[in-house]
Amino acid sequence: MPDQYAVIGNPVAHSRSPQIHAEFARQTGQDLTYERLLAPANGFMEAVKAFQARGGLGLNVTLPFKAEAFGYATRLSGRASAAQAVNTLKFEDDAVFGDNTDGTGLIGDITHNLGRDIAGRRVLLLGAGGAARGVIMPLLLQQPASLTLANRTLAKAQALQQTIGAGLEVSTYAELAGRQFDIVVNATSASLTGALPQLPSGLFAGGALAYDMMYGVGETPFLAFARVEGAAPLADGLGMLVEQAAESFFIWRGLRPDTAPVLKLLRQTAV
Ligand code: ATR
Repeated sequence: MPDQYAVIGNPVAHSRSPQIHAEFARQTGQDLTYERLLAPANGFMEAVKAFQARGGLGLNVTLPFKAEAFGYATRLSGRASAAQAVNTLKFEDDAVFGDNTDGTGLIGDITHNLGRDIAGRRVLLLGAGGAARGVIMPLLLQQPASLTLANRTLAKAQALQQTIGAGLEVSTYAELAGRQFDIVVNATSASLTGALPQLPSGLFAGGALAYDMMYGVGETPFLAFARVEGAAPLADGLGMLVEQAAESFFIWRGLRPDTAPVLKLLRQTAV
């Protein structure tokens, strides 16, 4: 019987992770299965236990369960502790290892796929929810010139700043007026509802990268705004998805797949 992996979430039907991991497995000659697991909103733990009981070796965890997965893990990586969220579980003999590969995924996509340095750049991160939390420390480790976290609800950004400490500056959207950034990352969930954070005009420096962590919804309102504001290039979160998947695959299998052909394939088979 092949080794079993899955992505667990609610909803999960739209997830492209099974296609990505099937490609990774084919590429590296690994004998494994990777399925979608839909867990009821209040049934995460039961679903994970059932998967473990039938021999499952690892899970990717997506919305809305990343915080619950953090609680479920008995051993955590440093980056999962920093993010207080887990997107990768590995079932070991006497432990459940929890990691978070989202930040590595974002950094890999920006620096490797998009060929942009983060070091020395002015970076603006929009949002203060789980998606933002997962990428703050990895962004800071790249040593940007500055990292500014802006959120609709300032108190949430301030609470995050308290846990991170030095190096992170916080702002409301209105207070961003008159400032410019080289990289602007949208980690709000606004795109999910077709909404746009209320950003002032003029945020994008010449040649600035506009990055929406969302994918698969066509051009998001944020990227449409960025286009009108003159940002280029524009990027959605599909590359981040592939990169975080590769890091999860490495955690489970000890092998690093080649992400470029898989990202290309996904772009060709857009749903
Ligand atoms: P996630 O785990 O996906 O980050 P979350 O924890 O619910 O989800 O956080 C959602 C983020 O998107 C928050 O930063 C939220 O802003 P608030 O903290 O002010 O609620 C942001 N967000 C969602 N819809 C938004 C909108 N229409 N405009 C601006 N920000 C929005």
